[in-house]
Amino acid sequence: MRVGVLTGGGDCPGLNAVIRAVVRKGVKIHGLDFVGYRDGWRGPLEGETMELGVPEVRGILPRGGTILGSSRTNPFTIDGGVEQIKDNLKRDDVDALVAIGGEDTLGVATKLADLGVNVVGVPKTIDNDLSGTDFTFGFDTAVNIAMEAIDRLHTTAESHHRVLVVEVMGRHAGWIALHSGIAGGANIVLIPERPFDIEKVCELVESRFKSRFSPILVVAEGAVPREGGEMTLSSGETDAFGHVRLGGIGDRIAYEIESRTGQEARAVVLGHVQRGGTPTAFDRWLATRFGLQAIDAVAEGDFGTMMALRGTQIIRVPLIEGTGELKLVTPAEYAEAEVFFG
Ligand code: F6P
Repeated sequence: MRVGVLTGGGDCPGLNAVIRAVVRKGVKIHGLDFVGYRDGWRGPLEGETMELGVPEVRGILPRGGTILGSSRTNPFTIDGGVEQIKDNLKRDDVDALVAIGGEDTLGVATKLADLGVNVVGVPKTIDNDLSGTDFTFGFDTAVNIAMEAIDRLHTTAESHHRVLVVEVMGRHAGWIALHSGIAGGANIVLIPERPFDIEKVCELVESRFKSRFSPILVVAEGAVPREGGEMTLSSGETDAFGHVRLGGIGDRIAYEIESRTGQEARAVVLGHVQRGGTPTAFDRWLATRFGLQAIDAVAEGDFGTMMALRGTQIIRVPLIEGTGELKLVTPAEYAEAEVFFG
């Protein structure tokens, strides 16, 4: 059997660990052949492939990014896209696909599986917002990078008696903000799931200054104010899945805090630093185990499934369980961080 592998959406640490595990076990245990598709769904759509065998996956375990490249191409927005993919898979003699991606990439995989394409999904995203799995790989690395930044910002904020606002990724879900905020001892965490009141934020800032410490706010890029969202900035650009490009909420909050409280406030945007570089041990472990299980699913013909972490077990769930609905921070989980606000 010949298997195609692709990585789509925003890159994230651990993608190469999945590819390596899929190929190494696929060749050694199941006797499979592989082909790499370049840049997510663009690869099978345009028939752009690369060699993918054991030599190609040597040495890639600790490397960030993806050797296959990535894109946010959506074949369902392209006329005849699905037929083109089916034709190219036939031309390349590919019997099955392993699609490694988040909400959008696996959303496409879900629809293609319904249309008869043999596909198995592996959940990735630094945002950790896919349902059906306790964690996605990439998240732990992003949280550790954000935590280290918060640790460093505490000392400089205290030296200058200023407010520091750290903007982290998280379009719809505040998992990175919540986990890094708890781990880094943030005084306020603002997430998309809980619209914030800027007056309340300013009160918490003032209360923190009553100690000898300075406030550190962690803000998810998708956070919105309670009154209507007028503080959210976006460039107006959208991608093939209709997502607007976010950015700017951290600066805007710093500006509001400074003008309302008179306390000096600065913003730091962590941006793509959270997605780059080498994965943590946890992400390498999780990504590797997802890859091992995914290629078993292919060998057994268990298509239309997604790998999922439940406790310490890797199980298979229907793709739709991962992509049907986003996994968001619950009020109870947010309340745990709130204990430390102010
Ligand atoms: O989906 C992962 C993610 O990193 C989000 O947190 C973020 O909103 C988005 O990708 C940014 O995408 P891009 O790198 O394409 O601007």
